Amino acid sequence: MKILLTGGAGYIGSHTAIALIEAGHDVSVLDNYSNSSPEAIKRVEKITGKNIALHEADAADKDKVMSILKKEMPDCIIHFAGLKAVGESVDKPVEYYRNNIDTTLTLLECMRELGLKNFVFSSSATVYGDDHKPPFTEEMTKGMCTNPYGWTKWMQEQMLADAAIASSKFASQSRGAKGSEDEATDWKEPLSVVLLRYFNPVGAHESGLIGEDPQGIPNNLMPFISQVAVGRRDHLTVFGDDYDTPDGTCRRDYIHVMDLAEGHVKAAEYAAEHTGTEVFNLGSGTPYSVLEMVHAFSAACGSEVAYEIGPRRAGDIQDSWANADKALKVLGWKTRRGIDEICRDAWNWQSQNPQGYGE
Ligand code: NAD
Ligand code: WQD
Repeated sequence: MKILLTGGAGYIGSHTAIALIEAGHDVSVLDNYSNSSPEAIKRVEKITGKNIALHEADAADKDKVMSILKKEMPDCIIHFAGLKAVGESVDKPVEYYRNNIDTTLTLLECMRELGLKNFVFSSSATVYGDDHKPPFTEEMTKGMCTNPYGWTKWMQEQMLADAAIASSKFASQSRGAKGSEDEATDWKEPLSVVLLRYFNPVGAHESGLIGEDPQGIPNNLMPFISQVAVGRRDHLTVFGDDYDTPDGTCRRDYIHVMDLAEGHVKAAEYAAEHTGTEVFNLGSGTPYSVLEMVHAFSAACGSEVAYEIGPRRAGDIQDSWANADKALKVLGWKTRRGIDEICRDAWNWQSQNPQGYGE
């Protein structure tokens, strides 16, 4: 299939490009590099030996997106483009709602006009909010999000599911009929939407050529640990050790980014065979605490990662992990890499690229 990745130069998109190419698909990328570098795609080309059509554009710019989609006419769009920093979203809610919602609406309008059908969306376990106890299952009601970023994912899921319903209704009505007066608002194809709820993506491609390269001080645990290990930061602050867990620190479902990437291959192939909306958790189902991650990383890099215990971080939930049975049953997908591979590959990337792509 021809698959277009919005935000494909970013952390998860670049790893997914490799998995898609290895599965025999053709990949093109649309990115505005607001949080990435074209260097990531150059490295993907080096790893795979394949050329990738690279389009610099804002995914909310309808004219540009239309002309790129007309050129590519992809069988599937995987929509990674978005702003993702939870703390920043609290300070810049307007920018987060504008960017994340607008990109999805623009893509939907373009798909409708061009009769494109298949869409895979980067959602997040954050949509479960703090209303449920893990393991989270897809049929649980979406919860109350704790920040604007989470709400953008929550709303985008809703918009996509609503569009899929409308597209199936109108596409079947207008088939064989003359359609409505406004061609642009007629759905030509019933949409197929796959919503992927990622848990905590971590690690890097095993080559060490691509990996996570956050700008400024990392918000997330694994890149922070990696930067302490490589000497860019003095120590990690563990956000609270007074939770009701065995060692007092929060537990999460860390998923190797290449396992996650392979989940996208299955999701895109599934989308092509179906219509309507389907939701999948992509996680390992196994939780690890913050201190377990610190100790596993220390073992992988061969030196103790310095840390101190600090106060809890506002908005953190104690526990989050997936029930990923549905992805196994329907997509035939499950994680294959564990905590040791996660830490090995994260360290391989960080130690080979201490300053990320910026060297
Ligand atoms: P990333 O920031 O590395 O990648 C996002 C990419 O989108 C970047 O290359 C950025 O330049 C691009 N982008 C942003 N706005 C754009 C726009 N308007 N037009 C074109 N390109 C734009 O982030 P990531 O970790 O690879 O995440 C990818 C997706 O997965 C995001 O939607 C994110 O919200 C979601 N997600 C990430 C995590 C995580 O922990 N990394 C967890 C759950 C969901
Ligand atoms: C993991 C654990 C922290 C940093 C976030 C988003 C979520 C999703 C994934 C996009 C927590 C602790 C962290 C540090 C620490 N993203 N920690 N010291 O919060 O589970 O999820 O990223 O969709 O929406 O909320 O991930 O990596 O920030 O934190 O002790 O310096 O590590 O308290 O327990 P989180 P994280």
